[in-house]
Amino acid sequence: MSADATRKKIVALIAAETKLSPTEVVVMLEKPKQEAHGDLAFPCFRLAKTMRKAPPVIAAELKEKLFAPPLPEGLAKVEPVAGYLNFTLATDTVITDLLRQVLEQGGSYGSMTEGKGRKVVLEYSSVNIAKPFGIGHLRSTIIGAALNRVYRKLGYETISINHLGDWGTQFGKLIAAYRLWGSEYEFADNAIYDLYDLYVRFHEAAKSDPALEEKGREEFRKLESGDTENERLWRRFHDYSMRDFNRIYEQLGVRFDYLTGESFYQERMTPVIEKLDKQHLLTVSEGAAIVDLTEYDMPPCLLKKSDDATLYATRDLTALLYRKDTFNFDKILYVVGSAQKLHFRQFFKVAELMGNEWVAEQAVHVDFGWVKFSGQMMSSRAGTLIFFDDVFAKARETALEIVIQENPGMDNVDWTAEKVTIAALVFTQLKVRRNRDVNFVWEDAFSFRGATGPYLQYTHARLTSLASKYGKPLPDLSADLLLLGDEEKQVTKRLEAYPAKIKQVAESYETSFLAEYLLDLAAAINSYWQRIRIITDDEKATTARMQMAYAVRVVIADGLRLLGIEPLKRM
Ligand code: ARG
Repeated sequence: MSADATRKKIVALIAAETKLSPTEVVVMLEKPKQEAHGDLAFPCFRLAKTMRKAPPVIAAELKEKLFAPPLPEGLAKVEPVAGYLNFTLATDTVITDLLRQVLEQGGSYGSMTEGKGRKVVLEYSSVNIAKPFGIGHLRSTIIGAALNRVYRKLGYETISINHLGDWGTQFGKLIAAYRLWGSEYEFADNAIYDLYDLYVRFHEAAKSDPALEEKGREEFRKLESGDTENERLWRRFHDYSMRDFNRIYEQLGVRFDYLTGESFYQERMTPVIEKLDKQHLLTVSEGAAIVDLTEYDMPPCLLKKSDDATLYATRDLTALLYRKDTFNFDKILYVVGSAQKLHFRQFFKVAELMGNEWVAEQAVHVDFGWVKFSGQMMSSRAGTLIFFDDVFAKARETALEIVIQENPGMDNVDWTAEKVTIAALVFTQLKVRRNRDVNFVWEDAFSFRGATGPYLQYTHARLTSLASKYGKPLPDLSADLLLLGDEEKQVTKRLEAYPAKIKQVAESYETSFLAEYLLDLAAAINSYWQRIRIITDDEKATTARMQMAYAVRVVIADGLRLLGIEPLKRM
C-alpha cells in the first residue's frame, strides 16, 4: 500500500471513531518533531473538551480501539506518546512513496520554498583586471556559483556579484608601462597576457629605477581625478580583460547579475569616511586615517593613506553598506580565500561599529584553502601564479585521450572532452572541505572509477544508455512499485537524504556534503548493478528496477548540475 493510502486509512478510522470530519483529521495530522516518533502524529488535545478525558488517555484508548494488532497494511507501529497518537509507516510504504515522489517531481525533487521571500547576495570570482584568470579565483568562482544554484533551488532570491579588482595603484603602473612599451605588443586575442607581461616588466624595471614607481603613482592619481586619457586606457585594459574572463565564465557556465568592481565605489567612499569621522571612529596616524581595533585584538583598519588615496578596505566597507542599502539582503556571502580572513574580520567590525548590528549575523566570509598541484607542480609563465588556461589545456588533453579511448568513433568528442575537463576540475575542488587545501593529482582527477566528477558523469551516462536499452517509456506510477526487493530498497532509500543534503550545503556553505552524497549514491547503484541484472525477462521486476534506476539518474543529474557539472548522456 502507498503512504497515501495508509494515511487515508488512518484518517477514515479516526474520523469514524471521533466524529470529526475526515477533513478535520487531515488538517490535524502532524509530522512528529522527532524522527523516532514516527511519520505521523495525531494530537488529541482538541478532543479533550468534548470527550472529557485527558489527551494521553484519549490517545491510549484510540490505539486500543482502532489500532490493536494486527495493524492495517502499511503501518509498522502505532504508539500513544504524551497526548499524541504516533504512527510509523512500514519501510516498504515509505520507500515506495519516496520513489513515487522522485519520479513525479523529476529535476525539481529536493526543491523547497524555505527561502521564499529571502534574499542572499553572493560575491564570488572577483578576479583582478589585467591579470590572467588564476586557479585561486577558479575555486572562488565554482564554490560561489554552486552555492548560488543551491540557494535558488531552495527558493531564495539570489544576487550574484563579481567584485572585480579593477582599481588601485597597480593601474597607474600599468598605464605608465603602457606608455613606455605598449607599442611593442599586439593586444590581439590574448591581450590579457600582454597586459600581464607589461605589468611584470614594469616591476622588473622599477627595481633599478625607483622613479618609475613614482611615475606609476602619479598616473593613478591622474586616473583617480578623472584624467580622460588615463580613463580611456583603463577602460581599454578593462575591456581586454573582460573579453578573456567572459570566455572562461562561458566555459564554466557561470553568470553574474552584477559586474560591479572596486572602481564602482570610487565616487561613493567620501560619505562613508565622513560618517566614520562624525562618529569619532577615525584616528589619524602618521597622516593616514585608521579605525583602531585594538579592543578586538586586530591591527587597525587602514582606510585612507597620507596622500588621501583610498584602499582595498575602504572600497569593501563602502560596498558592504551600499549593497545593504540597495538590495536589503538577509545574508551576504563573500567567497574569498582564507588568506584574506583578517581583512574581512576588520571591515566587518568597522561596519558594525558604525551602528550596523546586522553585520555580525548576516555578513559571512566563506573562506577556502589553496589549490596545489601535487607531483608536477605546475610552472606558469610567471612563476607563482597558476593560470586557469594552462591547467585547462593540460586537463583537456588528458580528458580527450580518455574519451577517445572509451568511445572510439564518438562524434562530439571535443565537446564531451571539454565537459569532462570541467567535471574533473570542478569536482576536485568541491569535494574537499572548504577550509582544506585542494591537492590536484592529474591521474586521480579523471578516473572513471575513483571519487571524481568524470566518475559521476560516467555513472549518469551508463544509466542513460540503460534507459535507451530498455527502450520504452517507464510505465506510469500506478504500476506496482512494491515489487522492489531488499537490494533495490537499499539503493532507493538513499534518495531520501537528498533534500536535506541540499539544505545542509546552504547552511554550512559546504559543497562537499553534496559531492560526498553523490559519490555514495553512485557507488550504491554501481555496486547493485554489478550483482544484479536490471533488464531481464521478468517484466515486473524489470519495471521496478528501471524505476529505481531512473530515479537515481534524476538525482545524480540534478546534483551534478547544482555543482556546475554537465550530466553527460554519452562518454
Ligand atoms: N580581487 C581580490 C583578490 O584577487 C578579491 C576580492 C574579494 N572580494 C572582496 N570583496 N574583497 O584578491
